Amino acid sequence: MKLWGGRFTKETNKLVHNFNASISFDKRLFRQDIEGSIAHATMLGKQQIISEDEKDLIIKELSDIMNEIIDDTLEITQEYEDIHSFVESQLIMRIGETGKKLHTGRSRNDQVALDMKLYIKDEINILDDLIKSFLLTFHEIMKANTQTYMPGFTHLQKAQPVTLSHHMGAYFEMFKRDRSRLSDIKKRMNTSPLGSGALAGTTYPLDREYSAVLLGFDGPSLNSMDGVSDRDYLIELLSALSTIMMHLSRLSEEVIIWNSNEYRFIELDDSYSTGSSIMPQKKNPDIAELVRGKTGRVYGALISLLTTMKGLPLAYNKDMQEDKELTFDAIDTVASCLALSNEMLATMKFNKNIMEDSATKGFINATDAADYLVNKGVAFRDAHGIIGKLVLTCIDKGKSLDDLSLEDYRTISPVFDDDIYEAISLTTCVNKRNTIGAPGKQAIEKVLKINEDYLKMD
Ligand code: ARG
Repeated sequence: MKLWGGRFTKETNKLVHNFNASISFDKRLFRQDIEGSIAHATMLGKQQIISEDEKDLIIKELSDIMNEIIDDTLEITQEYEDIHSFVESQLIMRIGETGKKLHTGRSRNDQVALDMKLYIKDEINILDDLIKSFLLTFHEIMKANTQTYMPGFTHLQKAQPVTLSHHMGAYFEMFKRDRSRLSDIKKRMNTSPLGSGALAGTTYPLDREYSAVLLGFDGPSLNSMDGVSDRDYLIELLSALSTIMMHLSRLSEEVIIWNSNEYRFIELDDSYSTGSSIMPQKKNPDIAELVRGKTGRVYGALISLLTTMKGLPLAYNKDMQEDKELTFDAIDTVASCLALSNEMLATMKFNKNIMEDSATKGFINATDAADYLVNKGVAFRDAHGIIGKLVLTCIDKGKSLDDLSLEDYRTISPVFDDDIYEAISLTTCVNKRNTIGAPGKQAIEKVLKINEDYLKMD
């Protein structure tokens, strides 16, 4: 059944119907569509555009339709063009003439704009909860590992020692920013398009402020053409989702490296890894690889929507229907990647001894050895040169800085004393770094306290 057959003399071509229809994917907006219609009917009643009885009947029937869809007694079928037509047709089938009054002062253009905004606000809350529980996992690992030493890398080369707590803390900050991005979007998008009509408002005395507040918006959108054609918030959301995926992908990349036979920093739980059909020894990090791999489709959604929107004259154009599938796919992808990454992280085992052992190799304390000389009055540039020579000696002798004899040290510079060993020990290297943000225990504990307070807020 169509909502617009009046001026047509021929049936729509079947291919055209299928090409034009969006019900196969916008049916997931049924809750928001009905919620929006209930608010619209409530407002029409208050403004006496429809009678009190008509309003009550419409609302009751809409609630029934919603409940029947939820408990699967009413199926959303494909012969309708979109979810809006489906719900309205159901209403008219059930209550006849009164049902036909629901669409007074409304267009599918402001209706779909409203549905998407309501849907996105709900989804942002769900995504935010997922990130928050991910942050709790990071927090637990951080608390338990303030003394778990590991190499910190630059250029994927061992650089300076850090702790697992410090390394995980970097991700904590990333995902904390992701939450704040989502919350910014939710604030900025919080105006209601309902009542914008097709593009130029309506002649009925609608109370747009009232329906906006009923639906949890700060107020109505202030330009009806913008109201129906604004998709900025979707672009912002896809950008925030792309950033979340970028973070998840970086984490995945580290999980893959750390899980490799060469590193063995971690062991994935059996329930979060997979085997090979031919090589019996394999335990593969497929989940991390898939998360890394799925990042591309979320970036794709962002570029796709930016491109769709770039040439559109005001106001509504059917191109905008393309906003849905990609946004839904991006949200579903990010939600499942967040949930799985969280579980993968929470169940993985950290091989602390291997991490710590790795942190004692690779001249990771060379900067601290140079700092030792600086503390004894040598200029940093000279100290850098001296330690460079010592590193060469080590490579020659197959030793680490910690294993060189004092004699070896003194051959290169007389400034060295036997306090050098203490100065370059792993514990010293890490725990002397106590400026805020650094890996030292005191510094990390301050940050843990801040994070703890942050996690207590909602
Ligand atoms: N399915 C459409 C969309 O997603 C709904 C709005 C239809 N409006 C119209 N004038 N054809 O954008």
